Amino acid sequence: MKCVAIAGPKKLVVESREALVGKPGYILIDVIKAGICGSDIHYWVSGEPKGLVMGHEFSGIVIDNGGSKKFKEGDRVTALPISPCLKCNECRSGNVQICEHTWEDAIGLSLKYPGGFGGRVLVREDMVRHLPDNVTFETGAMIEPAAVALRAVNISNVKKGDRALVIGGGIIGLLTAYFLKLRGASYVAVSEANPARGEKSVKLGVADEWFNALDPKLPEKLFAKTECGNGFDVVADCCGNSPALTSGIVFTRPNGNLVMVGISLGNVSVPLVSAVMKEINIKGSIAYKPIEFDAVIKLASDKKINLEKFVDDIVTLEDVQHSFERLTSGSDSAVKILVDPNKHKIIELKD
Ligand SMILES: NC(=O)c1ccc[n+]([C@@H]2O[C@H](COP(=O)([O-])OP(=O)(O)OC[C@H]3O[C@@H](n4cnc5c(N)ncnc54)[C@H](O)[C@@H]3O)[C@@H](O)[C@H]2O)c1
Ligand SMILES: [Zn+2]
Ligand SMILES: [Zn+2]
Repeated sequence: MKCVAIAGPKKLVVESREALVGKPGYILIDVIKAGICGSDIHYWVSGEPKGLVMGHEFSGIVIDNGGSKKFKEGDRVTALPISPCLKCNECRSGNVQICEHTWEDAIGLSLKYPGGFGGRVLVREDMVRHLPDNVTFETGAMIEPAAVALRAVNISNVKKGDRALVIGGGIIGLLTAYFLKLRGASYVAVSEANPARGEKSVKLGVADEWFNALDPKLPEKLFAKTECGNGFDVVADCCGNSPALTSGIVFTRPNGNLVMVGISLGNVSVPLVSAVMKEINIKGSIAYKPIEFDAVIKLASDKKINLEKFVDDIVTLEDVQHSFERLTSGSDSAVKILVDPNKHKIIELKD
């Protein structure tokens, strides 16, 4: 099994490993497409854990159903990569995303369960989902990040007519802006440090306007876009660093909603006084509930959303290292690159 693994800070290697095999209760999937996520970038930058095969956003074909009655070999599927215990209070109340075990054995985020950049994944049956016939493998690999954005928008309490700001125009920010509009936000602004990405948010039709996060006149420009000049009804931080979360607090109106989606491995500092004095509602948003994941599959199948328009490129395992470099260059417009980890097999077959 050919795979891409973390070898050190900003360093990936293509290596051969023994192929994953099926086991009862698990679905073995040949991966057709796997997305590179902003969270993968944190691991890539840190170089830890060494040997990790990333790729928690994937679609593929069942090659061993582990004795399942629901799935058979040849089925087209995607999956929630998480591993909730289903026993704790959080799980029993339907909040599997905040179960303390949810990331323990997560696919592509734990050493035990290699992700899509290994060409094969082994997934708990209850986390696997069929892809409807009209949903492509490309869209299938986009369901997971779209579900992250849908949860963020559910958490944000956005109401019809609200004016919203999304900080960060990576894929999570763009998809969050997309769902905010779908939910009836009357105006969505994106603030971005990379102009190529900022422009893209408007071109894709998910933002009404974009603003350069590094512009010294950003505060006056953004406040001018709000109803009473004192902030947005809804703000989503899709970056997770100190400057981004600081601007999130600054640009949320008194008693407005600030949803934290971006993640940083280190601590961040924020202007506490401003958050307290405005009594803003700050809430974290992690992953998704299974009903949100399923809702995204349905929205895609019903053609209410188009997730393929966010895909910039599809690469082979050999190009994954370069793709991470592109996604972190600060100047490239690409937000989502999918990996086709078994493409070499197709080439070998043709030869
Ligand atoms: N909460 C969750 O469940 C969840 C799920 C997936 C990803 N994430 C996190 O969400 C974040 C975004 O993911 P992504 O894939 O879009 O990542 P990304 O790195 O591709 O995008 C982040 C964007 O923010 C921009 N940016 C950085 N600082 C900024 C600032 N101060 N103001 C405005 N823009 C700024 C960058 O230029 C970049 O385009 C990451 O931290 C990721 O780990 C969270
Ligand atoms: Zn992800
Ligand atoms: Zn649990």
